[in-house]
Formats: sequence, structure tokens, C-alpha cells
Amino acid sequence: MPDKSGKGLEGVVAAETAISDIDGQKGLLYYVGYDIHDLATHASFEEIIYLLHHLELPNEQQLEEMRTAVSREREPNALAMELIPTLAESTPAMSMLRTIVSISSAQDPDGPSMAEEANYRKAIRLTAVFPTFVAYFDRLRNNQPLIPPDGSLSQAGNFLYMLKGDKADDEAARMFDICLVLHADHTMNASTFAARVCAATLSDIHSALTAAIAALKGPLHGGANEAVMKMLKEIKEPAKARDYILKKFEAKEKIMGFGHRVYKTEDPRATHLRAMSKDLAEKTGDGSYYEISQAIEKTVMDEKGIYPNVDFYAASVYGYLGIPTDLFTPIFACSRVSGWTAHVREQYADNRLIRPDHDYVGPDPRTWVSISDR
Ligand code: COA
Repeated sequence: MPDKSGKGLEGVVAAETAISDIDGQKGLLYYVGYDIHDLATHASFEEIIYLLHHLELPNEQQLEEMRTAVSREREPNALAMELIPTLAESTPAMSMLRTIVSISSAQDPDGPSMAEEANYRKAIRLTAVFPTFVAYFDRLRNNQPLIPPDGSLSQAGNFLYMLKGDKADDEAARMFDICLVLHADHTMNASTFAARVCAATLSDIHSALTAAIAALKGPLHGGANEAVMKMLKEIKEPAKARDYILKKFEAKEKIMGFGHRVYKTEDPRATHLRAMSKDLAEKTGDGSYYEISQAIEKTVMDEKGIYPNVDFYAASVYGYLGIPTDLFTPIFACSRVSGWTAHVREQYADNRLIRPDHDYVGPDPRTWVSISDR
């Protein structure tokens, strides 16, 4: 039941959207009417970008055009390139992303234009370049040479290449591609809502994305996947998982990667990520992350009946793919930027300022007291 105090805006309809939909009781997620299970099985991330922005699946030519558009826009502008080395010295990865997206607006080829076509170009440009920001940041902080984007690779394959310096095998690239597909959009989640609130003031798309990244950063939203990996590393072996979780419950702490405002059953994205985690555990011959995750899941389900969300098994999948833990949330952003930009454009297309009401719980009106009498 929605909280009657309105706390957390539970149950409040904040916008009409044609981009995605969730049935929290049945555990269903749709992008523009397509079931996430079908999309995770068949679609590439480039197809999803097209779908979220055009509200139809692309035909072959349209998909090719999207691939080309994205692969052409992967290089950061000069100002961003100047700043990344400084940010790589000591800035946390999500703060780097928030800052670099904001600064990128200064040299966007479309400038401050709010024209519909300009905003579409900015949306594709930002979606294309996010992974480069993350990979360059990681290479620079590790004193490694930068690997320029490879236009022949998919958004997923190219990210792994720029990050590691070696081309990922097809299987690893497809697994990462599926991760991008699964994280691309999710209705009125906190970061998308933040983006829409900002866009609804008719502020620009870079500002809306800066707000979205700021919201995604928190551990109750995108930051949960990093917290999950920290937990897996702390637990170390499956046999210790149960006691660890019970202690957290005793201390009234939340278990990261579990629970959801909307899903009252399994998050459909978690189903895919669990299977991928299992698969990677077998392929890498290192079952530890997966087995600890399984033991945690069993304890949380047995004790509280709370299901894992998208962040829980994403952590072990990214861990198996060799991605540094503090890049997990930036990677979430590399996918969700497709949804954020689609929502921002949808907001502009039928805009009204978002300005909720409140319940006042402070004192009744009272008389001013001069400072000497307080
Ligand atoms: N671990 C333990 N208990 C949890 C829990 C978790 N991860 N998630 C929810 N609960 C419990 C709460 O303690 C609360 O119990 P109570 O009614 O006895 O007080 C109840 O379930 C409702 O939780 P609440 O925090 O009010 O739900 P919410 O809709 O406001 O929050 C989340 C949703 C996602 C923020 C919340 O489940 C959470 O903090 N999860 C961990 C962080 C996370 O994984 N975030 C990523 C989301 S995709």
C-alpha cells in the first residue's frame, strides 16, 4: 500500500511515459511494449538506444545508422580530454562522471540549442561517449596509455577494449552487451525522475544528466552494486554468508542488492544476471562470487522473503568480467544514459513544470522575536 504520508512519493504518478513499464506484482518489465526477457535474449544495446528514442525497433538500415552514429561520437571533446587526467588523480569515479558530463556541455557542437534535433544529437553523443569517459579515467589513474575507441566494435565490445586494451572475446562482449540492455531504462527510478524534474524547468540535457548521475551515485540506487561487491569480498567464503547476513539483520542494516520499491517478486533483470553469474563462475572456474551470492540470497529469502534486485548479481557478473568495483555504478550510467536521454526528450515534448505539494509539520504561524530576546 502506498505510504499515506507521501514519503518517498510511493504510488504517485509523476509522468506519463511510453518508454518503459513495470508490473511489480508479476515481475515484468517492458521497454516500449517489448518484454525484457525477449530483449535480453535478442537485442543489442544499439537496438535498445534506437527503441527508447524512436519507440520502435530499428530495421537493418536504421540499426546500421545508429551503430555508425554512436561509433562516430565516442571521442570526448577537447575540454573534457583536458580535465580527465586531473579528475583521474583522486576523484571518485561517479564524481568524475558527473563533473565531466557537466563540463562537456561547454563544447557540445550543438551549443545551448534546445531544438528537438539538437537534443536528439546531444542524446546520441552523450550515450556514445560515456564509456570513453569511464575507460579513459581508469587507464589514466593506472598510468596506462589511452586506447582510442574502435569504430568497428559495438558499444559493449568497445568499452571492454578501451578499458583493458585487449579485444574481448565474442561471448564476454555479448554478456556485457546484455548487461547494458538490462540496465537501459526503468520507468520513474530516482535518477530518471531527477533528470525529468530538471528537464521540466526547461534546463538543458547536460544539466538533466548531471542531476541524474548525482542521484544514481547513492547507495540506495545505482551505488548498490558496488556495495554488493564489497559485501562479497568481506564474506570471502559461502559458509560465512549466513552469519554475516544475520548480524546485519540484528544491527537493522539493509542488505544491499535486495528489495525494491516496485517489484514485489523477482526483478526480471536479476533472473538474467543470476544466470550470467553462474555461467561465468563455471567458465572462469572460480565459483566464489556466485556461491557467496547464492548463500546470501538464500538467507535473505528465508529470513525476510526479500528478493534480489538488478544490482545484486550485476556485482558478481562485473567482477567476473574483470571490471574494477568502483566502475560498477559508472557502467550502470553508461547504459542508463540511453533511458535518461529518452525521458528528457519525452519530458520536453509534453512539458509541465514538476512541482509537488507537501504536508507542513512545523509550528503554527508565530510572532517575530528580536535577536536580543531569543
Ligand atoms: N535489506 C533488509 N531489509 C530491507 C531491504 C534490504 N535490502 N529492503 C527493504 N527492506 C525492508 C525494510 O527494512 C522495511 O522493513 P520494515 O517495514 O520492517 O521497516 C521494508 O523492507 C520496506 O523497505 P523500505 O526501505 O521502506 O522500502 P523502499 O521502497 O523505501 O526502498 C529500496 C526500496 C530499494 C531503497 C530498499 O529496498 C533498499 O534500501 N535496498 C537496498 C539498496 C539497494 O539494493 N538499492 C538498489 C535498488 S535497485
